[in-house]
Amino acid sequence: MARITAGVATSHVPAIGAAIDLGKTADDYWKPVFAGYEFSKDWIAREKPDVVFLVYNDHASAFSLKTIPTFAIACGEAFKPADEGWGPRPVPTVKGCPDLAWHIAQSVIQDDFDLTVMNEMDVDHGLTVPLSLMFGQPEAWPCLVIPLLVNVVVYPPPSGQRCYDLGKAIARAVKSFDDDLNVQIWGTGGMSHQLQGPRAGLINTEFDHEYLELLLNDPDRLARKPHIDYLREAGSEGIELVMWLTMRGALNANVNELHRFYHVPASNTALGHVIYQNT
Ligand code: DHB
Ligand code: FE
Repeated sequence: MARITAGVATSHVPAIGAAIDLGKTADDYWKPVFAGYEFSKDWIAREKPDVVFLVYNDHASAFSLKTIPTFAIACGEAFKPADEGWGPRPVPTVKGCPDLAWHIAQSVIQDDFDLTVMNEMDVDHGLTVPLSLMFGQPEAWPCLVIPLLVNVVVYPPPSGQRCYDLGKAIARAVKSFDDDLNVQIWGTGGMSHQLQGPRAGLINTEFDHEYLELLLNDPDRLARKPHIDYLREAGSEGIELVMWLTMRGALNANVNELHRFYHVPASNTALGHVIYQNT
């Protein structure tokens, strides 16, 4: 039987990808950021997940204003790094897991969630930066990846509750897959940040710390937070945090927090990262 063994949440700031690709991780600015992932890299090297179910948002790389699915699951064999304007990141092609992805699509859609199925798609920093933070710079990514895309770029985004409930449906789907697989679920993006308008640069550390507490100890309450609260308190791009709720919803009510890291600033964001072991 496939089992979800752990959840990971992490920011996906594109400048972090550039720092890795350009060999700047030991620079004064970036050193404290990467220090927060030392534990995580050791941990995941021991855990050796077979599949990472990776919840992220596309930033106008795979989609544009022409088509805006609220949720999409990528069922393809492989996903190339997207060209985000400065050329694709020099990272390995991401290998998918079509059998499990289709199983989850079938189960979750029959469970009343409407997912768009993507058979071909390129993946941007929202997906590749978390892989780089957790795995470093390998020749090939050491696990298969199922990308789950959430629209948090064009209004309206889905509610936190919907993302949380989708996580629960994903967990039911994984549990009903026969192959013996070690599956992790990751939620990416956040924490508080705003990239545009008069409030560009907004960071709210009080909001972020409370979020980290509630995500661990009272996710049912956190899931009820309306989207306008994210917008007002965590900035327009702070809404990316709803994707952490999908990760949390896919785990059991009680989890062990193995790691928590928070750092300000990373580019324009408050960077957050947690690892939860499923009980
Ligand atoms: C930045 C952060 C993001 O999450 C993103 O998708 C793009 C840019 C930033 O801090 O610059
Ligand atoms: Fe983003």
